[in-house]
Parts: sequence; C-alpha cells; structure tokens
Amino acid sequence: MRILSVASEIYPLIKTGGLADVAGALPPALSRMGMEVKTLVPGYPRLMEKAGPAVPIHDFGTLLGVPARLLSAKAGELDLLILDAPGLYDRQGGPYLDTDGKDYSDNWHRFAAFSLAGALIAGGAFTEFVPDLVHAHDWQAALVPAYMKYRGIEKPSVLTIHNLAFQGQFSPEIFSRLELPPHAYSVDGVEYYGGVGFLKAGLQSAWALTTVSPTYAKEIRTPAFGMGLDGLISTRSDHLHGIVNGIDIEDWNPETDPHLGTQFSIRNLKARVANRRLIEGRFSLDADDAPLFIVVSRLTDQKGLDIVASVVPELVEMGAKLAVLGTGDPGLEHWFLTLAGVHEGRIGVQLTYDEALAHVMQGGADAILIPSRFEPCGLTQLYAQHYGTIPVVARTGGLADTVIDANSAALAAGVATGIQFPPDNGFALVEAIQRLVEFKANPKLWTAMQRQGMRLDVSWNRSAAEYASLFASLVSE
Ligand code: ADP
Ligand code: GLC
Repeated sequence: MRILSVASEIYPLIKTGGLADVAGALPPALSRMGMEVKTLVPGYPRLMEKAGPAVPIHDFGTLLGVPARLLSAKAGELDLLILDAPGLYDRQGGPYLDTDGKDYSDNWHRFAAFSLAGALIAGGAFTEFVPDLVHAHDWQAALVPAYMKYRGIEKPSVLTIHNLAFQGQFSPEIFSRLELPPHAYSVDGVEYYGGVGFLKAGLQSAWALTTVSPTYAKEIRTPAFGMGLDGLISTRSDHLHGIVNGIDIEDWNPETDPHLGTQFSIRNLKARVANRRLIEGRFSLDADDAPLFIVVSRLTDQKGLDIVASVVPELVEMGAKLAVLGTGDPGLEHWFLTLAGVHEGRIGVQLTYDEALAHVMQGGADAILIPSRFEPCGLTQLYAQHYGTIPVVARTGGLADTVIDANSAALAAGVATGIQFPPDNGFALVEAIQRLVEFKANPKLWTAMQRQGMRLDVSWNRSAAEYASLFASLVSE
C-alpha cells in the first residue's frame, strides 16, 4: 500500500510541537509494516537546509498563482516530497509565525497551496508515486480531502486531528482564490460561520477522521471540548477513531540517548542522579535530594501552567524543587521568572526551546507536571514514563489514557505509573504534588512505579498497526 502523509512540520527537520514528533515517527513505523510512505512537507528554508540534497521530480507550474515544484529527498528513514514554492515558504521566522511572533497574513494561501499539492499528488500528478490513500494532519493539511472531493479524486483520505484549538479560519474573501467550485462554499463544504474553515472543510470531506487518543475522540463530541465543531464531529462519529500516539523509542532510548549526561536502564536507575545534577546546574537549583519536578511545555492556556505558577509557594513549602523549560505566553513567562527570583535555588526557569535539555530533564527528574485543561494526546508523559520520571497529569484526553493513576487498587496491583488529578483545579494539583512527595519518601514504592512506567509499551508498534488496519479497510472499500 502506498500512503501519502501530508504534514506541515516533521521531526527532526522542523518542529513546534508534538505534531512534528508524530509526523516524523509514524511513517517509518508504517514502513516497517510493509507500507510505502512518503511525506509531503512545505519547503521552509530551515527544512531544506537540514534535509540535504533534494532532486526536482515534478513541476506544478503554478499552485494558486504561485510557481511551485516538487523535490524528493531522504532524511534518515523519512522519504520526503518537498513543496518548493519560495513565494510561500522562503521566509525568516517559523513555519506559521513571522519573526515578531505574528501569524503570516497569507497563511491561508501557504497551506491551501500545500493542500492542493497533496490532492494533485493523490490524483496522480507525480506518476512515479501514486498513493492509494492520503493521510492529512491538522488544519494546515485539512483542505487535502476537500480538494480531492471537489476535484473528483476518488481515493480514501484520512484526516488526523492533533488539536482542535487550531482550526485555520479565514475571511470569506479568500474563497474565490482557492480554485474550488462555487458550490464548495456551503455548510457541507468549506463555509464556516460566514468565513472559510480549513479544519471544518476537512472534517466534512475526509473519508475517515482520527484523533490522537480514545478519550479525546469522545471529548470532542461535546460542547466543552468541541470548540464549536462538536456538532459536526458528532454527525461523523461513525467515521472517527481515537488512536493514541506512540513515541520514537530509538530517539528516546535511555540506554543510548546521546543528550544524556549519563545513560541508564531499568536495571540501573541510580545512574539517573548524574542527569539530575545536570538539571540542577542548568536551572541554578540547589543540589539536594528533594523531590525534583519538571515542566517541558509550550506555555499556553491549553497546558494549564498558570495553575502550576499559582501553587509554587505550596510546592516550595513541601520542600520540593521545580525546573521549567518552555516558551509561550509572555505574561506566564514573566510570572515564572519572578517566581524563580523569589524562590532562588528552588525554582529554575529556562524560557527557550531546547530539545537536548528536554531529554536530560526527562532522564534526571523525579516527576513531570502536566496540568493541561485539554490534551489531545500529549507526548511528554510518554517520554517521562519511558525515562523513569513519574507523570503528574490532569485527567483529560490522552493523559487519562496513558498514565495509570496510583489509586489504592492500582497500587495494590502494582500497576500504577503516575498520578492523575481533576483538570483546572489548583487544590487538586497541590494534593497531587503532596502525594508525589509522599511516594518519593518510600523508595521501594517509588522504584516500583518508575519500573512499571518504563515497562509500558509506548512505542509506535501498536498504534501504527491500528492506523494500518484503518488504512487497509478504507482502501478495500
Ligand atoms: P504539544 O504538541 O501540544 O505542544 P506534546 O506533548 O504532544 O504537546 O508535544 C510537545 C513536544 O514538544 C514534546 O516533544 C516536548 O518534549 C517538546 N517541547 C515542548 N516545549 C519544549 C521546549 N521548550 N524545549 C524542548 N522541547 C519542548
Ligand atoms: C497536539 C496536541 C498534543 C498531541 C500532539 C501530537 O499538539 O496538543 O496533545 O500530543 O498534537 O498528536
């Protein structure tokens, strides 16, 4: 089976969040199962530099008025099709935001053309790779199934929702420039609240929908989590599947991880202490054996880290320490910096994006705090469990599905891997931190929980098999 994956970011070439991790790890996992997968990505300058030698393989002429061609490149295990359209992608700044942190004003154009390229490849534009199915990720690729539908490309399409908070909504004026037939501007097409909705159009048009955990798949059918799309998602619930993410266990292997100061294994957890000392050094924390909590996250409303900031006094009072690695909301960044100043040696903050440091933190901390208000899947709790760091998570979305809460039954059965608490609740978070501190004081229980987490299969094997069987059933329809 030939699969075209369409993703606007891909690890290790360009990453703003978990989408990149998934787009970079799922295709190789599917290839290992015998599928031929190529991933279409936009030709951002940073991606092109890192991808290495690329060969022109197809000329689109223009896409939505912009000259565009297709390049082929191989980056590690990834087979890439790069959409080379300098008019759209050759910019300073990130994949979605300019150097001032503002959305590019032509994002609709950048990702509509990207989606059109995906649809044209699905339709056979590049004869050497004619996919049997297209797998589009998030709003940036969500017009792929819409273009396929309105251009008569009758082939299965799957749209994966990684985060319903990002929907790609634009003003109605852009519709005339999308090169879609007039009737596509309707409630069962791309029209959304009087404008154009990319994600909405994809939810409407894709043969099947998936999201990244079973619990989030249920949550998004309700007004509390549906972000206005719950009605539409509910009407398509027969075609919606919740498949939990895996992690790349080669990249994240504590026995070989080159980012770690000291590598370790399930049999040698004591070696983690060297990584702990590195964290303390990087975050100017006291070198002691007090419970060490970490945060590795985008600092946005979704992630609920304002709730962590508000309970820092209690955390410090309990004798614990906290290292925060993240970027995002300026107000929250400032709040954490202030806390670090007030609680010198106990709270440390790095307002940056640092992949290597994230590995060290997972390899040396006691616990990671993930108090998300909603979380489609979440990957940091998976990295944590795989690295012997205990996750303390809000009971929502993929966090609820992937952490086994240390309630009395789970403790008695010896299966607990972390702590869950009710979302958006500072008191519950304080209680969860308190429990963690108590567990830490019981070395036998503590090591058992660490080992239990490390034994979980968080690889892509099982989830890739679920995607494979969904893809096979659609192709045989
Ligand atoms: P989301 O995609 O919503 O941001 P995930 O938990 O799915 O959340 O994925 C986040 C990814 O980004 C993880 O790989 C995490 O380690 C990484 N990450 C987030 N913030 C940082 C940071 N400041 N430095 C390094 N890695 C980070
Ligand atoms: C999104 C979600 C996160 C998920 C990631 C990868 O960014 O916020 O929960 O893990 O996508 O699917």
